[in-house]
Amino acid sequence: MISIRPHTNVLVLTGAGISAESGIRTFRDSGGLWENHRVEDVASPLGFRRDPRLVWSFYKKRWEDAQLATPNTAHLALAELEQKLGNNFNLITQNVDGLHYKAGNRRVWEMHGSLNHCYCTNCEAGYSLREINLSEDLPGCPACKGLLRPDIVWFGEVPYFLPEIEEALKVCEIFLVVGTSGAVYPAAGFVMSAKLMGAQTLAINLDKPDNLGFIDHFFQGKSGEVLPKLLAEWYQN
Ligand code: APR
Repeated sequence: MISIRPHTNVLVLTGAGISAESGIRTFRDSGGLWENHRVEDVASPLGFRRDPRLVWSFYKKRWEDAQLATPNTAHLALAELEQKLGNNFNLITQNVDGLHYKAGNRRVWEMHGSLNHCYCTNCEAGYSLREINLSEDLPGCPACKGLLRPDIVWFGEVPYFLPEIEEALKVCEIFLVVGTSGAVYPAAGFVMSAKLMGAQTLAINLDKPDNLGFIDHFFQGKSGEVLPKLLAEWYQN
């Protein structure tokens, strides 16, 4: 029996699959390559040191794609759920596309960073991509002229908001996972923590996730089709 009431504490984890129906390709779809680049070339600190121009041109394109993308029915259903639950709702996303914010969610932890932001490798000042001169191959910091980098958590770097997430995992009653392969840690381990701490664990995904063993109820399908219906079924005033 799955039931969400206004006082139920719900923690959601999303991955690339939730944005697939908004036209943003998932990583596993790309056969180990990401838009024809090796992941280590465009998503690691070493790749950035070797060829910052390539990395910037890659993320500028990702950012432009994300700017054009619109939230789909799954994002919108989660925004509606936040409206209903208020402080009892938290959303962790591994996505960097900003679509949860566009959909209207505010209680979002973008644990892998955001395409919308960058920061200075010298003075660490943060900027929105809109504020900087993107016509330069290598965007420079407006304050100190240091090299800016995308605010993306690359392989080998520590995800954001881990202390907040740990606290939320302790108190959630329902942990809902949407559109993630369950293959990339630490996010893939959250479902195990939530379950061991007493939450009911639910997942919606096109393929069976790798961490299926820790999921109480698995719903296979496209999140844009499945999630709005299930949330309407589960929610009771
Ligand atoms: N609805 C639901 N699930 C879907 C849909 C859809 N429409 N389309 C694809 N999926 C599922 C796939 O079955 C797959 O299991 O989404 C999952 C996407 O998996 P990944 O591409 O591995 O994405 P994700 O789990 O978010 O990756 C985690 O890995 O590359 C790193 O940092 C990157 O944040 C990313 C992390």
